[in-house]
Amino acid sequence: MGAVIARGAWAQATDKKVRIGVVGGGFGASFQWHLDPNCIVAAVSDLRTDRRDYLTQVYQCPTAYESLEKLILDDSLDAVAVFTGAPDHVRHCVAVMDTGKHCICAVPAATSLEECEQLIDAKVRNNVRYMMAETSYYRWPTITMRELYRDGKFGEVLYSEVEYYHPMNDAERNGLWFYNGERTWRYGYPPMLYPTHSTGFLVGVTRERLTKVSCLGYGAPDGPGLSDNAYNNPYSCQAAIFRTSGGHICRCNVMWAIWAHGERAQWMGARMSAFMDGWAGQPYVLKSVDGPDVLGDPNYFERLPEAMRAESGHGGSHPFLTHEFVTALVEDREPAIDVYESVAMTAPGIVAHQSAFKNGEQLEVPSFDPER
Ligand SMILES: NC(=O)c1ccc[n+]([C@@H]2O[C@H](COP(=O)([O-])OP(=O)(O)OC[C@H]3O[C@@H](n4cnc5c(N)ncnc54)[C@H](O)[C@@H]3O)[C@@H](O)[C@H]2O)c1
Repeated sequence: MGAVIARGAWAQATDKKVRIGVVGGGFGASFQWHLDPNCIVAAVSDLRTDRRDYLTQVYQCPTAYESLEKLILDDSLDAVAVFTGAPDHVRHCVAVMDTGKHCICAVPAATSLEECEQLIDAKVRNNVRYMMAETSYYRWPTITMRELYRDGKFGEVLYSEVEYYHPMNDAERNGLWFYNGERTWRYGYPPMLYPTHSTGFLVGVTRERLTKVSCLGYGAPDGPGLSDNAYNNPYSCQAAIFRTSGGHICRCNVMWAIWAHGERAQWMGARMSAFMDGWAGQPYVLKSVDGPDVLGDPNYFERLPEAMRAESGHGGSHPFLTHEFVTALVEDREPAIDVYESVAMTAPGIVAHQSAFKNGEQLEVPSFDPER
Protein backbone atom coordinates (compact mmCIF):
# COMPACT_ATOMS: atom_id res chain seq x y z
CA MET A 1 0.00 0.00 0.00
CA GLY A 2 2.93 2.34 0.64
CA ALA A 3 2.71 5.86 1.96
CA VAL A 4 -0.58 7.63 2.60
CA ILE A 5 -0.97 10.71 0.42
CA ALA A 6 -2.16 13.91 2.09
CA ARG A 7 -5.04 15.62 0.31
CA GLY A 8 -6.54 19.06 0.43
CA ALA A 9 -3.76 21.61 0.77
CA TRP A 10 -4.99 24.84 2.36
CA ALA A 11 -5.82 27.84 0.21
CA GLN A 12 -7.64 30.90 1.51
CA ALA A 13 -11.10 30.95 -0.07
CA THR A 14 -12.51 34.06 1.57
CA ASP A 15 -11.44 36.93 3.79
CA LYS A 16 -14.50 36.55 6.06
CA LYS A 17 -13.59 36.83 9.75
CA VAL A 18 -15.12 34.96 12.66
CA ARG A 19 -15.10 37.09 15.84
CA ILE A 20 -14.52 34.69 18.71
CA GLY A 21 -14.51 35.11 22.49
CA VAL A 22 -12.28 32.72 24.44
CA VAL A 23 -13.23 31.69 27.99
CA GLY A 24 -10.83 29.78 30.26
CA GLY A 25 -7.16 30.71 30.46
CA GLY A 26 -5.71 27.27 31.33
CA PHE A 27 -6.07 24.76 28.50
CA GLY A 28 -8.10 27.40 26.65
CA ALA A 29 -4.93 29.44 26.06
CA SER A 30 -3.34 26.70 23.93
CA PHE A 31 -5.22 27.18 20.65
CA GLN A 32 -4.34 29.20 17.56
CA TRP A 33 -7.41 31.42 16.99
CA HIS A 34 -5.29 34.54 16.47
CA LEU A 35 -3.20 32.80 13.79
CA ASP A 36 -6.12 31.73 11.59
CA PRO A 37 -6.55 34.28 8.80
CA ASN A 38 -10.33 33.87 9.09
CA CYS A 39 -10.54 34.54 12.82
CA ILE A 40 -10.15 37.41 15.25
CA VAL A 41 -10.04 36.96 19.01
CA ALA A 42 -12.39 39.79 19.96
CA ALA A 43 -12.75 39.09 23.70
CA VAL A 44 -11.38 36.85 26.43
CA SER A 45 -12.50 35.93 29.93
CA ASP A 46 -11.51 34.04 33.06
CA LEU A 47 -12.76 34.43 36.61
CA ARG A 48 -9.09 34.51 37.67
CA THR A 49 -7.30 37.77 36.90
CA ASP A 50 -3.95 36.02 36.32
CA ARG A 51 -5.50 33.80 33.67
CA ARG A 52 -7.48 36.66 32.14
CA ASP A 53 -4.22 38.59 31.76
CA TYR A 54 -2.55 35.54 30.27
CA LEU A 55 -5.34 35.21 27.68
CA THR A 56 -5.04 38.88 26.66
CA GLN A 57 -1.30 38.31 26.17
CA VAL A 58 -1.52 35.03 24.24
CA TYR A 59 -4.30 36.18 21.93
CA GLN A 60 -3.19 39.83 21.80
CA CYS A 61 -6.73 40.83 22.69
CA PRO A 62 -7.25 43.80 25.02
CA THR A 63 -11.00 43.23 25.53
CA ALA A 64 -11.36 41.13 28.67
CA TYR A 65 -14.51 40.33 30.64
CA GLU A 66 -14.72 39.21 34.26
CA SER A 67 -16.84 36.17 33.43
CA LEU A 68 -18.38 34.12 30.65
CA GLU A 69 -21.74 35.49 31.71
CA LYS A 70 -20.56 39.04 30.88
CA LEU A 71 -18.67 38.07 27.73
CA ILE A 72 -21.67 36.45 26.08
CA LEU A 73 -23.57 39.77 26.26
CA ASP A 74 -21.05 41.19 23.74
CA ASP A 75 -23.07 41.23 20.53
CA SER A 76 -20.02 41.82 18.37
CA LEU A 77 -19.04 38.15 18.89
CA ASP A 78 -20.03 35.40 16.45
CA ALA A 79 -18.76 32.51 18.55
CA VAL A 80 -17.45 31.57 21.98
CA ALA A 81 -14.79 28.99 22.92
CA VAL A 82 -15.72 27.46 26.29
CA PHE A 83 -12.69 26.06 28.17
CA THR A 84 -14.11 25.96 31.68
CA GLY A 85 -14.30 22.91 33.99
CA ALA A 86 -16.16 19.79 32.79
CA PRO A 87 -19.18 20.00 35.13
CA ASP A 88 -19.92 23.53 33.82
CA HIS A 89 -19.75 22.77 30.10
CA VAL A 90 -23.43 22.27 29.34
CA ARG A 91 -24.60 25.19 31.50
CA HIS A 92 -22.03 27.45 29.84
CA CYS A 93 -22.59 26.20 26.28
CA VAL A 94 -26.37 26.50 26.59
CA ALA A 95 -25.92 30.09 27.85
CA VAL A 96 -23.66 30.86 24.86
CA MET A 97 -26.01 29.31 22.30
CA ASP A 98 -29.05 31.00 23.85
CA THR A 99 -27.49 34.34 22.90
CA GLY A 100 -27.41 33.11 19.28
CA LYS A 101 -23.66 32.53 19.21
CA HIS A 102 -21.84 29.47 17.88
CA CYS A 103 -19.93 27.42 20.41
CA ILE A 104 -16.82 25.27 20.63
CA CYS A 105 -16.25 23.54 23.97
CA ALA A 106 -13.57 21.50 25.68
CA VAL A 107 -14.28 17.82 26.38
CA PRO A 108 -16.38 16.21 27.66
CA ALA A 109 -19.54 17.52 25.99
CA ALA A 110 -21.66 16.66 29.06
CA THR A 111 -21.57 14.75 32.35
CA SER A 112 -25.07 13.18 32.36
CA LEU A 113 -27.56 11.87 29.80
CA GLU A 114 -29.94 14.71 30.71
CA GLU A 115 -27.19 17.20 29.90
CA CYS A 116 -26.62 15.51 26.51
CA GLU A 117 -30.27 16.17 25.73
CA GLN A 118 -30.09 19.79 26.94
CA LEU A 119 -27.01 20.45 24.80
CA ILE A 120 -28.62 19.12 21.62
CA ASP A 121 -31.87 21.00 22.36
CA ALA A 122 -29.99 24.30 22.74
CA LYS A 123 -28.05 23.80 19.51
CA VAL A 124 -31.19 22.91 17.55
CA ARG A 125 -33.48 25.55 19.07
CA ASN A 126 -30.96 28.35 18.40
CA ASN A 127 -29.90 27.03 14.99
CA VAL A 128 -26.22 27.60 15.72
CA ARG A 129 -23.07 25.43 15.31
CA TYR A 130 -21.55 23.43 18.14
CA MET A 131 -18.24 21.56 18.16
CA MET A 132 -16.41 19.61 20.86
CA ALA A 133 -12.63 20.12 20.86
CA GLU A 134 -11.67 16.43 21.06
CA THR A 135 -7.93 16.27 20.60
CA SER A 136 -7.84 12.52 19.79
CA TYR A 137 -9.85 13.28 16.62
CA TYR A 138 -6.95 15.25 15.11
CA ARG A 139 -4.00 13.22 16.35
CA TRP A 140 -2.20 12.45 13.11
CA PRO A 141 -2.62 8.64 13.29
CA THR A 142 -6.37 9.20 13.78
CA ILE A 143 -6.50 11.38 10.67
CA THR A 144 -4.67 8.65 8.76
CA MET A 145 -7.00 5.90 10.04
CA ARG A 146 -10.09 7.97 9.23
CA GLU A 147 -8.94 8.43 5.65
CA LEU A 148 -7.82 4.83 5.12
CA TYR A 149 -11.19 3.70 6.51
CA ARG A 150 -13.09 6.14 4.28
CA ASP A 151 -11.14 4.89 1.25
CA GLY A 152 -12.06 1.29 2.07
CA LYS A 153 -8.44 0.30 2.69
CA PHE A 154 -9.23 -0.89 6.19
CA GLY A 155 -12.23 -3.10 5.57
CA GLU A 156 -14.32 -3.00 8.71
CA VAL A 157 -12.75 -2.25 12.06
CA LEU A 158 -13.82 -5.45 13.78
CA TYR A 159 -12.09 -4.77 17.08
CA SER A 160 -10.54 -1.69 18.58
CA GLU A 161 -8.69 -0.89 21.79
CA VAL A 162 -8.89 2.74 22.87
CA GLU A 163 -7.41 4.13 26.03
CA TYR A 164 -6.55 7.19 28.05
CA TYR A 165 -4.21 7.01 31.03
CA HIS A 166 -3.29 9.99 33.18
CA PRO A 167 -1.38 8.89 36.25
CA MET A 168 -0.79 11.40 38.97
CA ASN A 169 2.00 11.52 41.48
CA ASP A 170 1.18 13.48 44.64
CA ALA A 171 2.56 16.80 43.37
CA GLU A 172 0.74 16.66 40.04
CA ARG A 173 -2.49 15.48 41.66
CA ASN A 174 -2.43 18.28 44.21
CA GLY A 175 -1.75 20.80 41.45
CA LEU A 176 -4.85 19.64 39.57
CA TRP A 177 -7.13 18.88 42.52
CA PHE A 178 -6.62 22.05 44.57
CA TYR A 179 -6.43 25.78 43.86
CA ASN A 180 -5.78 28.16 46.76
CA GLY A 181 -6.51 25.31 49.18
CA GLU A 182 -9.98 24.65 47.67
CA ARG A 183 -10.91 21.52 45.76
CA THR A 184 -11.25 21.94 41.98
CA TRP A 185 -13.77 20.07 39.80
CA ARG A 186 -11.09 17.44 39.13
CA TYR A 187 -11.10 16.18 42.74
CA GLY A 188 -12.25 12.53 42.56
CA TYR A 189 -13.64 13.01 39.03
CA PRO A 190 -14.90 9.65 37.60
CA PRO A 191 -12.70 8.29 34.77
CA MET A 192 -15.63 7.24 32.54
CA LEU A 193 -17.13 10.73 32.74
CA TYR A 194 -14.02 11.70 30.77
CA PRO A 195 -14.31 9.10 27.99
CA THR A 196 -13.89 11.10 24.79
CA HIS A 197 -10.09 10.88 24.40
CA SER A 198 -10.68 7.11 24.14
CA THR A 199 -14.05 6.86 22.37
CA GLY A 200 -12.97 9.55 19.90
CA PHE A 201 -10.49 7.08 18.40
CA LEU A 202 -13.34 4.85 17.20
CA VAL A 203 -16.30 7.21 16.71
CA GLY A 204 -13.91 9.67 15.07
CA VAL A 205 -12.67 7.07 12.58
CA THR A 206 -15.69 4.92 11.62
CA ARG A 207 -18.52 7.15 12.92
CA GLU A 208 -20.01 4.01 14.46
CA ARG A 209 -22.05 4.44 17.62
CA LEU A 210 -21.31 2.62 20.88
CA THR A 211 -24.61 0.95 21.64
CA LYS A 212 -24.12 -1.41 24.61
CA VAL A 213 -21.62 -1.46 27.41
CA SER A 214 -20.34 -3.56 30.26
CA CYS A 215 -17.87 -1.75 32.51
CA LEU A 216 -15.83 -2.63 35.59
CA GLY A 217 -14.39 -0.11 37.98
CA TYR A 218 -11.50 -0.28 40.40
CA GLY A 219 -10.72 2.01 43.29
CA ALA A 220 -8.53 1.30 46.31
CA PRO A 221 -10.70 1.57 49.46
CA ASP A 222 -8.42 4.31 50.82
CA GLY A 223 -7.55 5.73 47.37
CA PRO A 224 -7.04 9.50 47.24
CA GLY A 225 -10.22 11.47 46.64
CA LEU A 226 -12.44 8.39 46.44
CA SER A 227 -14.33 8.54 49.73
CA ASP A 228 -15.63 12.11 49.78
CA ASN A 229 -15.83 13.61 46.30
CA ALA A 230 -18.66 15.62 44.75
CA TYR A 231 -19.48 12.77 42.36
CA ASN A 232 -19.87 9.90 44.89
CA ASN A 233 -17.24 8.21 42.74
CA PRO A 234 -15.37 5.22 44.16
CA TYR A 235 -13.28 4.51 41.02
CA SER A 236 -9.84 5.59 39.84
CA CYS A 237 -9.73 3.08 36.95
CA GLN A 238 -12.50 1.90 34.62
CA ALA A 239 -12.46 -0.60 31.73
CA ALA A 240 -15.40 -1.10 29.38
CA ILE A 241 -16.37 -3.46 26.57
CA PHE A 242 -18.67 -1.83 24.04
CA ARG A 243 -20.78 -3.28 21.23
CA THR A 244 -20.79 -0.93 18.25
CA SER A 245 -23.63 -0.09 15.86
CA GLY A 246 -21.74 -2.12 13.25
CA GLY A 247 -21.84 -5.15 15.54
CA HIS A 248 -18.14 -4.82 16.35
CA ILE A 249 -16.26 -4.80 19.68
CA CYS A 250 -14.43 -1.92 21.34
CA ARG A 251 -12.39 -2.22 24.53
CA CYS A 252 -12.19 1.19 26.17
CA ASN A 253 -10.12 2.16 29.21
CA VAL A 254 -9.91 5.39 31.20
CA MET A 255 -7.59 5.18 34.21
CA TRP A 256 -5.97 7.61 36.64
CA ALA A 257 -4.17 5.27 39.04
CA ILE A 258 -1.93 3.07 36.86
CA TRP A 259 1.60 4.00 35.89
CA ALA A 260 0.98 4.54 32.19
CA HIS A 261 0.42 7.74 30.30
CA GLY A 262 -1.34 9.12 27.28
CA GLU A 263 -4.01 8.49 24.69
CA ARG A 264 -3.59 5.54 22.36
CA ALA A 265 -5.52 3.18 20.08
CA GLN A 266 -5.24 -0.06 18.13
CA TRP A 267 -7.65 -0.61 15.23
CA MET A 268 -7.98 -4.16 13.90
CA GLY A 269 -9.77 -5.02 10.69
CA ALA A 270 -9.95 -7.99 8.36
CA ARG A 271 -7.68 -6.30 5.80
CA MET A 272 -5.55 -4.05 7.94
CA SER A 273 -4.56 -3.40 11.53
CA ALA A 274 -2.92 -0.35 12.99
CA PHE A 275 -1.09 0.08 16.28
CA MET A 276 -0.47 3.61 17.48
CA ASP A 277 2.78 4.57 19.10
CA GLY A 278 2.64 5.10 22.83
CA TRP A 279 4.22 6.45 25.97
CA ALA A 280 5.83 3.10 26.85
CA GLY A 281 7.80 3.02 23.61
CA GLN A 282 5.38 1.04 21.44
CA PRO A 283 6.20 1.69 17.78
CA TYR A 284 3.65 2.97 15.26
CA VAL A 285 2.86 0.00 12.98
CA LEU A 286 0.27 -0.38 10.21
CA LYS A 287 0.00 -3.87 8.70
CA SER A 288 -2.05 -4.46 5.58
CA VAL A 289 -3.06 -7.70 3.85
CA ASP A 290 -2.39 -5.92 0.56
CA GLY A 291 1.13 -5.03 1.67
CA PRO A 292 3.55 -3.38 1.79
CA ASP A 293 2.91 -1.94 5.22
CA VAL A 294 1.71 1.66 5.38
CA LEU A 295 4.53 4.04 6.12
CA GLY A 296 3.18 6.26 8.87
CA ASP A 297 1.42 9.59 8.45
CA PRO A 298 1.85 12.11 5.68
CA ASN A 299 2.58 15.72 6.59
CA TYR A 300 -0.87 17.12 7.37
CA PHE A 301 0.41 20.62 8.08
CA GLU A 302 -0.24 21.63 4.46
CA ARG A 303 -3.98 21.55 5.25
CA LEU A 304 -3.48 24.49 7.59
CA PRO A 305 -2.77 28.17 6.96
CA GLU A 306 1.03 28.71 7.06
CA ALA A 307 1.00 30.59 10.36
CA MET A 308 -0.69 27.64 12.10
CA ARG A 309 1.81 24.97 11.00
CA ALA A 310 3.51 24.51 14.34
CA GLU A 311 3.87 21.68 16.81
CA SER A 312 1.20 21.80 19.48
CA GLY A 313 -0.12 19.72 22.33
CA HIS A 314 -1.95 16.39 22.15
CA GLY A 315 -0.37 14.92 19.05
CA GLY A 316 -0.37 18.13 17.05
CA SER A 317 -4.17 18.39 17.18
CA HIS A 318 -4.74 21.93 18.45
CA PRO A 319 -4.38 23.96 15.21
CA PHE A 320 -6.52 21.40 13.37
CA LEU A 321 -9.36 21.78 15.89
CA THR A 322 -9.01 25.56 15.73
CA HIS A 323 -9.04 25.67 11.94
CA GLU A 324 -11.91 23.20 11.54
CA PHE A 325 -14.23 25.26 13.76
CA VAL A 326 -13.33 28.54 12.06
CA THR A 327 -13.67 27.02 8.58
CA ALA A 328 -17.05 25.44 9.40
CA LEU A 329 -18.39 28.85 10.44
CA VAL A 330 -16.93 30.60 7.41
CA GLU A 331 -18.36 27.93 5.09
CA ASP A 332 -21.68 27.87 6.97
CA ARG A 333 -21.62 24.11 7.57
CA GLU A 334 -21.56 21.77 10.56
CA PRO A 335 -18.07 21.17 11.99
CA ALA A 336 -16.52 17.67 11.76
CA ILE A 337 -17.19 16.98 15.44
CA ASP A 338 -20.74 18.31 15.49
CA VAL A 339 -23.10 18.01 18.43
CA TYR A 340 -24.19 14.47 17.52
CA GLU A 341 -20.62 13.17 17.11
CA SER A 342 -19.71 14.92 20.39
CA VAL A 343 -22.54 13.25 22.29
CA ALA A 344 -21.78 9.91 20.59
CA MET A 345 -18.28 10.13 22.13
CA THR A 346 -19.56 11.28 25.54
CA ALA A 347 -22.79 9.42 26.41
CA PRO A 348 -21.23 5.91 26.21
CA GLY A 349 -18.89 6.79 29.08
CA ILE A 350 -21.79 8.07 31.19
CA VAL A 351 -23.59 4.74 30.74
CA ALA A 352 -20.33 2.81 31.31
CA HIS A 353 -20.02 4.56 34.67
CA GLN A 354 -23.57 3.39 35.54
CA SER A 355 -22.64 -0.18 34.50
CA ALA A 356 -19.61 -0.14 36.82
CA PHE A 357 -21.94 0.50 39.78
CA LYS A 358 -23.85 -2.64 38.69
CA ASN A 359 -20.68 -4.73 38.61
CA GLY A 360 -20.49 -4.79 34.83
CA GLU A 361 -24.13 -5.42 33.95
CA GLN A 362 -24.50 -4.78 30.23
CA LEU A 363 -26.52 -1.60 29.63
CA GLU A 364 -27.86 0.02 26.51
CA VAL A 365 -26.48 3.40 25.44
CA PRO A 366 -29.36 5.57 24.21
CA SER A 367 -29.10 7.13 20.76
CA PHE A 368 -29.16 10.92 20.57
CA ASP A 369 -28.97 11.00 16.78
CA PRO A 370 -31.79 12.59 14.81
CA GLU A 371 -34.18 10.16 13.08
CA ARG A 372 -32.64 9.46 9.70
N1 LIG B 1 -6.75 17.09 25.60
C1 LIG B 1 -7.81 17.78 25.92
O1 LIG B 1 -8.77 17.81 25.16
C2 LIG B 1 -7.86 18.54 27.24
C3 LIG B 1 -6.70 18.77 27.99
C4 LIG B 1 -6.81 19.55 29.16
C5 LIG B 1 -8.04 20.03 29.57
N2 LIG B 1 -9.15 19.77 28.81
C6 LIG B 1 -10.47 20.31 29.19
O2 LIG B 1 -10.41 21.71 29.06
C7 LIG B 1 -11.16 22.35 30.08
C8 LIG B 1 -10.27 23.34 30.82
O3 LIG B 1 -9.19 22.63 31.38
P1 LIG B 1 -8.20 23.36 32.41
O4 LIG B 1 -7.16 22.37 32.74
O5 LIG B 1 -7.80 24.68 31.89
O6 LIG B 1 -9.21 23.51 33.64
P2 LIG B 1 -9.17 24.56 34.81
O7 LIG B 1 -10.22 24.17 35.79
O8 LIG B 1 -7.76 24.74 35.27
O9 LIG B 1 -9.58 25.95 34.10
C9 LIG B 1 -10.89 26.34 33.88
C10 LIG B 1 -10.90 27.85 33.89
O10 LIG B 1 -12.21 28.30 33.61
C11 LIG B 1 -12.43 29.48 34.36
N3 LIG B 1 -13.89 29.68 34.53
C12 LIG B 1 -14.78 28.87 35.14
N4 LIG B 1 -16.03 29.41 35.11
C13 LIG B 1 -15.89 30.60 34.45
C14 LIG B 1 -16.81 31.63 34.12
N5 LIG B 1 -18.11 31.55 34.44
N6 LIG B 1 -16.34 32.71 33.44
C15 LIG B 1 -15.02 32.82 33.12
N7 LIG B 1 -14.11 31.87 33.43
C16 LIG B 1 -14.54 30.77 34.09
C17 LIG B 1 -11.76 29.19 35.70
O11 LIG B 1 -11.48 30.38 36.40
C18 LIG B 1 -10.51 28.45 35.24
O12 LIG B 1 -9.40 29.30 35.10
C19 LIG B 1 -11.67 21.24 30.98
O13 LIG B 1 -13.00 20.97 30.68
C20 LIG B 1 -10.83 20.02 30.63
O14 LIG B 1 -11.62 18.86 30.71
C21 LIG B 1 -9.08 19.03 27.66
